[in-house]
Amino acid sequence: MIRPETMRILFVTSEFYPLVKTGGLADVSAALPAALAELGIDVRVMVPGYSEALDGAEHLDESVPLGEVPGAGTIRLLPARSPDSGLPLWLIDCPPLYQRAGGPYQDPDGRDWPDNDLRFAALSRAAARVSQGEHGLNWRPDVVHANDWHSGLVPLLLSHAATRRPATVLTIHNLAFQGLFDADRLPRLGLPADCFSPDGIEFYGRISFLKAGIRHANHLTTVSRTYAQEIQTPEFGCGLDGLLRQRAERLVGIPNGADYRIWDPARDLPLPRRYSLAEIAGKRICKEVLQRELGLAVEPDTPVVAFMSRLTEQKMADTVAEAVPRLVEVGAQLAVHGQGDRTHETRFLALAERYPGRVSVRIGYQERRARRLLAVADILLHPSRFEPFGLVPIYALRYGTLPVVRRVGGLADSVVDSATNNDGEATGFAFTGGSLEDLLGCLTRALDTFRQPVGWRRMQRCAMRRDFGWKGPAEEYFALYRTLTGPRAGPVSAAPGPPAPRPQEADMRVSTPMRARTIST
Ligand code: ADP
Ligand code: GLC
Repeated sequence: MIRPETMRILFVTSEFYPLVKTGGLADVSAALPAALAELGIDVRVMVPGYSEALDGAEHLDESVPLGEVPGAGTIRLLPARSPDSGLPLWLIDCPPLYQRAGGPYQDPDGRDWPDNDLRFAALSRAAARVSQGEHGLNWRPDVVHANDWHSGLVPLLLSHAATRRPATVLTIHNLAFQGLFDADRLPRLGLPADCFSPDGIEFYGRISFLKAGIRHANHLTTVSRTYAQEIQTPEFGCGLDGLLRQRAERLVGIPNGADYRIWDPARDLPLPRRYSLAEIAGKRICKEVLQRELGLAVEPDTPVVAFMSRLTEQKMADTVAEAVPRLVEVGAQLAVHGQGDRTHETRFLALAERYPGRVSVRIGYQERRARRLLAVADILLHPSRFEPFGLVPIYALRYGTLPVVRRVGGLADSVVDSATNNDGEATGFAFTGGSLEDLLGCLTRALDTFRQPVGWRRMQRCAMRRDFGWKGPAEEYFALYRTLTGPRAGPVSAAPGPPAPRPQEADMRVSTPMRARTIST
């Protein structure tokens, strides 16, 4: 059996905290590799060289040319380190693709970059080339771990590679984002026309980067056990449930964790007062300071409800906005901190004007403010139509802020509902159904409990004690990598090719009808 010290993992991602972040993917991409490294695994994280990533990382050595990619010329690999954990990073340096003002996926006006296909195909090609030991790099991974559609082409490219290839894992963080592009982009991506079939990367007449990954990865994971089941149903499968059912034996849910080096009120420097289970009084001080800062009436006994997330349909921002008048009517305060669809942003801003001192709205995405908000709030409102995992509610638990969630995806696994658990283990409030009344019913239950201090304290203590550290999940990933690189394994690729450097597990159940051939990586 391969030991952690002899295992090499290439983790390919489009986000990495603290360099570039639009959501939970950035947190996972920093914390999981760090936890794998703590197990002794040699892990490198590959990220596009966006301007902010180049500015924020600690640079190490000279860059290494990785050859040409379609539409952008030469790409280079820039060895660097994470500024906070010291984790080894490989930034993909290609100024025409990545160095521009705006976000990783969108321009400053919120429109998708028109060359996202080229940008993320280049990331996948870089990963595939490194994985095959090209370009004189003295390092080849045993497993390439791709994440979401941005690196969905990695398994496709590697499954057809002519030279030695590692095993591939694809983690689905959110099936709703699929990397769909018009079919006429195929030639500009340098992919052969016969990839474009229902058994390949075609999805209702378009190219799907995510489907390419799901179809070709040796193993699939997603970020909670419940979501792993849900995505195999038409309700949550986003049109890919059939393929996911076909691959069910190669699909596993491994829950995310919380990085308590960052998400812990006992260590959190931006807080007005640090606090812990043993010194919970600090939370009251945070509440007073932050109510003032947020423009809310300073009332220690008034429940503060926080809504902190992307302001999108996924997060039920529309229903939360509808709930605001009732929430104010029952005497609660609401603090919103988020960014997303313009219609939701405008609606929340109007509510803040209508209810001064009761509703505070800050549009934006600032890490420091996010952590302060978890400290000031009593309740985190986090209803989602679907939620692969949902990091914010588990972070909230450590801050003694009790979550109100919809019983869906990872939220169903991580929050213990007070109505269904009377053994003193409850940590929050959960509802089924998706209507405004369902949400309000659950929120009312939370507000009633808040008004019973003894019961509330008991739940807070239980919440703050819960341990969602990354060690357990990292061990699960290691066990999975090991099954893919173990001694009994045979070639994995969908299309037959030359033998892999280490034998890998056979995956004949999903073998593709595509004929054996080579795609240039
Ligand atoms: P998702 O990835 O779907 O957005 P998660 O709950 O898994 O949901 O992760 C969200 C991440 O984004 C968390 O790290 C959370 O703290 C952060 N976040 C959410 N809203 C904001 C905001 N307004 N400002 C800063 N960080 C935010
Ligand atoms: C996605 C999901 C979220 C998950 C995060 C990290 O953005 O929406 O539920 O926690 O990825 O895996």
